[in-house]
Amino acid sequence: MRPTMLCPALTIFLVLSIVCFTVNANKKKADKKAPEWKADSRPSRNEFEENKHEGTDAELSCPAKGQPKPTVEWFKDGDPFFPRAERIELKKGVLHFQDLKISDKGNYTCVVNNEIGRLEFTYVLDVIEKVWPLNVVGPNNLTVYEGQDAEFFCRATNDPRARITWLKKPNEIELTGNPRPAYLQGVPGTPEVLLIQNVTHSDVGQYTCMAGNYYGSKYQDAWLVVLPRTTTTTTTTTTMKPTTTSAATTTTTTAKRTTTTTISSTTTTTRQPSVTEKIKKKDKDRKKKKERKDKKKKKEKKNRIKEPENVIPEERYNEDRTSDLDHSYHMFPDTGKTNDNTLLYMLIT
Ligand SMILES: *[C@@H]1O[C@H](CO)[C@@H](O)[C@H](O)[C@H]1NC(C)=O
Ligand SMILES: *[C@@H]1O[C@H](CO)[C@@H](O)[C@H](O)[C@H]1NC(C)=O
Ligand SMILES: *[C@@H]1O[C@H](CO)[C@@H](O)[C@H](O)[C@H]1NC(C)=O
Repeated sequence: MRPTMLCPALTIFLVLSIVCFTVNANKKKADKKAPEWKADSRPSRNEFEENKHEGTDAELSCPAKGQPKPTVEWFKDGDPFFPRAERIELKKGVLHFQDLKISDKGNYTCVVNNEIGRLEFTYVLDVIEKVWPLNVVGPNNLTVYEGQDAEFFCRATNDPRARITWLKKPNEIELTGNPRPAYLQGVPGTPEVLLIQNVTHSDVGQYTCMAGNYYGSKYQDAWLVVLPRTTTTTTTTTTMKPTTTSAATTTTTTAKRTTTTTISSTTTTTRQPSVTEKIKKKDKDRKKKKERKDKKKKKEKKNRIKEPENVIPEERYNEDRTSDLDHSYHMFPDTGKTNDNTLLYMLIT
């Protein structure tokens, strides 16, 4: 080969090499991809809220694809976050929390990076404080006259989020029919209040307040006693003199609103007699004896109502039932009676 031919050949070779190199480089560059959220991942759906209960587990992840494979870094409230507690683990870019604490609350930002691009997403993790046992106040026993309204009240003082639901155990009248407890609605917007308007004898019975949160339910009972309304026109108003004994018979008869149970008080009979009024009569002794007998009967009846199949045992109510059922309220224990559960869930959802 003559030297004059070598030069053009080398030039062609060089040009070809450069072309080849650039084409290859471009091809490689074309293979690279900026990070992108994986389809159906929470960041892709913008589901940033994570409301959890204390003691449960949580998992925060930012699944993304890209070329080269993107790295994941985490920040909590703006600062780089490295799990320190043993119950928090960072594995393959995923944050795993166990036994969540209130201190875990915060905004967790993942930064997903590769040489081509960058993505970030922030989870707002809220940890709801564990409140258990519930401190339930009410309901109180009530005694009202037929036709009046009865109002039960019940509240969990240590957990305003607790759900309040009401249940009435069947009374002796209803026992013959359907012995299943009936679920009642509290006043709309104020579930802590159960209002029974214009009570009748059939409203007599045991009412249960069910206060529940994520960690369990507490059940408290109260009785509604209904006094009959009558049309008799005499009432006995006993005025107790300070010196008289309990056997005092000083009475003044007035033409006031009356009842067959002849409830009277040391003051005067009012439209709404108080529950604690003493019961008296002229022939007190005889009456008292009769009363005692009635009371005994009544008690027996109540005990009959409280037969086991109609009562959900307290200990089953009060079980601490922490479980992995997120965002649900354990308003009713697993009594095996699915009907009860179903009915209740229908009512509370
Ligand atoms: C977390 O994010 C929410 C919503 O963007 C914001 O309201 C809140 O102040 C943030 N909390 C902190 C501690 O940065
Ligand atoms: C309510 O009445 C029931 C049945 O009469 C009784 O056992 C219970 O002690 C009463 N509760 C209160 C707080 O008075
Ligand atoms: C209360 O109930 C009785 C009997 O069911 C009925 O006759 C009466 O009209 C009711 N009163 C009110 C104020 O609803």
